[in-house]
Amino acid sequence: MLIALLPGDGIGPEVIEQARRVLDAVCGDTLTYEEAPVGGAAYKAHGHPLPPATLDLARRADAILFGAVGDPDCDALERHLRPEQAILGLRKALTLFANLRPAKLFPELADASALRPEVASAIDMVIVRELNGDVYFGEKGMRTTAAGRREGYDVMAYNEDEVARIARVGFETARARNGKLCSVDKANVLETSQLWRDVVIELSADYPDIALSHMYVDNAAMQLVRNPGQFDVIVTGNLFGDILSDQASMCAGSIGMLPSASLDANKKGLYEPIHGSAPDIAGQGKANPLATILSAAMMLRYSLDRGTDADRIEAAVASALANGARSPDLGGTHSTVQMGDAVLAAL
Ligand code: IPM
Ligand code: MG
Repeated sequence: MLIALLPGDGIGPEVIEQARRVLDAVCGDTLTYEEAPVGGAAYKAHGHPLPPATLDLARRADAILFGAVGDPDCDALERHLRPEQAILGLRKALTLFANLRPAKLFPELADASALRPEVASAIDMVIVRELNGDVYFGEKGMRTTAAGRREGYDVMAYNEDEVARIARVGFETARARNGKLCSVDKANVLETSQLWRDVVIELSADYPDIALSHMYVDNAAMQLVRNPGQFDVIVTGNLFGDILSDQASMCAGSIGMLPSASLDANKKGLYEPIHGSAPDIAGQGKANPLATILSAAMMLRYSLDRGTDADRIEAAVASALANGARSPDLGGTHSTVQMGDAVLAAL
């Protein structure tokens, strides 16, 4: 099995290194790895955030482990050359439309949550975020109004097949868990959302065993901090899912803890922490590698059919936390490498 390692920018290489140590300990030489530059690092080396050789590796690999992209040096570049285009390009080129972002509170981290421990301890949910459409990929640009003023625009659109494809993943995910699906939209204002809601309701006929509810995104943001325990699976569009998953991560302790899987229709996947490249702490050994280590576990489970190994890694992360491993984002002083050491010791 070939794993593409795409460390990227900022803290990406540091967290990927720890995930690699954990994978080596669990999988030995049953996996082979090829690494390629992506994001700002790739732009600086090859003039493009997603060079052809990197995309080719991603296509050839059985699964992709991705660090993070984003580099302040690149903020002034034309949009198509910015680091973020690498991850957006990979999601689109490989049709990775289904993004699973589980948010669960490790009991040891109840004190790290931004919420009161009794509220936070109930969090155990998956956000299913659509990843190939929405305002992210609609027509966009800058233009001049009749009055000569600059105007930026981004078109939000979903067609019914795109909605149905992700809604099915939402229903199936709920079926494998506690049978509750909450579809999040803004149907009181947006036509895109009205279609979203109509299609989800039509599909629900195929899933009579799933308790379906609908929530406007503003209310969902509020409910996530008021009573996050009410959610089992949330299915939502690209933009709303981006925002709600960052919020859910802080409810669950730290953005340094949340893994994600981005899957195509055949469960080929790209696995990445939901956090960004954190340029402010890059190179200082302060980054929490657990989200990336947990992403590697998701990779074993979803793309490589190694659920038992994934369980082992997740249990080792829980033990490391129980034994007191805490990086700065969790209120401690463990370095990135020491967090990796703690997981290895637990294994
Ligand atoms: C995420 C990130 C990306 C997104 C950025 C880096 C383009 O925030 O994966 O959540 O907006 O999807
Ligand atoms: Mg995001």
